[in-house]
Amino acid sequence: MKVTDREYALALDAADPLRHFKERYVITDPDMCYLDGNSLGRLPHDTVVAVTDFMTKEWGPEVVNGWGHWVDEAQPTGDLIGRATLGAAAGQVLACDTTSVNFYQLCLAAIHARLGRKTIITDAANFPTDRYILEGIAKQFDLELVIIDNEDPKIAENELITVDVLKPYLSDDVALVTLEVIQYRSGARNDIKSLTDLVRSFGAFLLWDASHAVGAIEMNFDANGVDIAVGCTYKYGNSGPGAPAWLYVNKRVQAELQVPIQGWFSQADQFGMGPVFERAEGIRGFQIASPSLIGLRCIKSAFSIIEEAGITEISHKCATGTQMMIELYDAWLADLGFTLLTSRDANKRGGHISIGHPDAARICVALRQFANVIPDYRTPDSIRLAISPLPTSYVEIWDGFQRIRDLVTTRQYEKIEKSDSRVT
Ligand SMILES: Cc1ncc(COP(=O)(O)O)c(C=O)c1O
Repeated sequence: MKVTDREYALALDAADPLRHFKERYVITDPDMCYLDGNSLGRLPHDTVVAVTDFMTKEWGPEVVNGWGHWVDEAQPTGDLIGRATLGAAAGQVLACDTTSVNFYQLCLAAIHARLGRKTIITDAANFPTDRYILEGIAKQFDLELVIIDNEDPKIAENELITVDVLKPYLSDDVALVTLEVIQYRSGARNDIKSLTDLVRSFGAFLLWDASHAVGAIEMNFDANGVDIAVGCTYKYGNSGPGAPAWLYVNKRVQAELQVPIQGWFSQADQFGMGPVFERAEGIRGFQIASPSLIGLRCIKSAFSIIEEAGITEISHKCATGTQMMIELYDAWLADLGFTLLTSRDANKRGGHISIGHPDAARICVALRQFANVIPDYRTPDSIRLAISPLPTSYVEIWDGFQRIRDLVTTRQYEKIEKSDSRVT
């Protein structure tokens, strides 16, 4: 059987130990090929029940008494994220705030733990919010922000940061390096352990943004010696638009790191309401404020499903699904003006691949409008296509790729003049 036979994808589905999980998600249009779970994951049925129950059985009847058992919920919810997806033992993860806020908090904690060092480093292909926040921090604290030009193929292949790429930038003046585990655009997977070890050998902190990796691949933070990391929960984590993010601080460095926003949730005797800030020990010392309970319940139901399925099995399906995408790309798309922007080595990618085309923006709009395929577009010329292993079947990917081939072969996308959406 060839990859271009639909039976190929059906056979993968029949043998897929995760195939029954698809039923656990709300799918209102079975004809839609949803290949954008790397941007916003599908809604789990359990979440509909969990949120309704929270409102009718807790908030409604309990009103303010509920805080008695809600107050510390960011911690067990963080533990669940850690257990299900990060390879993190309890007491090191908090579910809170947004990735951007958590990123800012941990950047400053790391920089202030290395006072006197004046250099911070990131890469040009890093997600915009991270780059913009670092630019602001550099300005505010008079630091030098060094940006590795990994968009230049002479410096890095598919934006991948390796030890060889990073090493020339390091010195004993570096306080902080921040990288994505999986590059948001190209899908390149940076190696957590070798890069963490390298940065530590220069006495600096490496802050990982794992937004595009959490719920897609195994990261083994504890075993890989990670110090600090942040990420979201709404992509492969399926916790909903704007759901709380998470931060990870390894126990080894919790006492050394102090976040700049000293909110009342990190006060040791929180309800003593005393005049002076005295930080709580442990991971609570990194929490700012009242958690969104509805958001936490969305995380709880979604990450419980991930835990049940198992991150090893999930990452295996990401590898097989992206492999099938690359084979379909070779068979159908390579001759239509597309280029592959993601590695052919499954260990160097996660749950999405990225393909380039000079008309990528119009193709993405046309796929939504004419073909019922949902990819996403990233400037300047990338189309991202993802497998979200629990709600996506192999045949859904196969159908999506066939429709991309047909839409581009017939040049139907040329009917699109421009998109009127601010969001791509
Ligand atoms: C890698 C990465 N970091 C940070 C963010 C920003 O997340 P938030 O808007 O939740 O702060 C995103 C959003 O997609 C992201 O992909």
